[in-house]
Amino acid sequence: MTLEHTLSIIKPGAVRRNIIGQIISRFESSGLRIAAARMVRLSQEQAEQFYAVHRERPFYSELVAYMTEGPILVMVLEGEDAIARNRAIMGSTDPQKATPGTIRFDLGKNTTRNTVHGSDAPETAEAEIAFFFKPDDICPRHE
Ligand code: CMP
Repeated sequence: MTLEHTLSIIKPGAVRRNIIGQIISRFESSGLRIAAARMVRLSQEQAEQFYAVHRERPFYSELVAYMTEGPILVMVLEGEDAIARNRAIMGSTDPQKATPGTIRFDLGKNTTRNTVHGSDAPETAEAEIAFFFKPDDICPRHE
């Protein structure tokens, strides 16, 4: 196993519903820890840039509109195999296809309003973390 960092976003709907704590406690009780965190209100340009890989997809404008409708919590999660473990804790993109007990099944509304985002691979984790955090912002585990 490898110690990894991954980017997690608690999306605007979940921030508005005041369920940040419920979501974070799922990460913590699964052995992931928060190495950096801050609340951000994304501009249109920032949301477009963050999700640029989806620019040609039919859901892009809806996704950008949703991600700019209110503040988000961006976090760096740290742990062994953090990227895959975070994805398992989140569940499938579509809450209706997610496994019961995952964040998206339990708390997601639909594919756009699916509560959380998580990086999907080491390269994207690195790029997505750098989008929001400077190296000095990240506080690795200390004993
Ligand atoms: P996220 O993990 O934030 O990454 C891209 C987002 O696009 C995804 O979660 C969904 O919220 C959103 N999205 C909307 N429709 C789709 C779709 N059909 N396939 C994939 N992602 C979608």
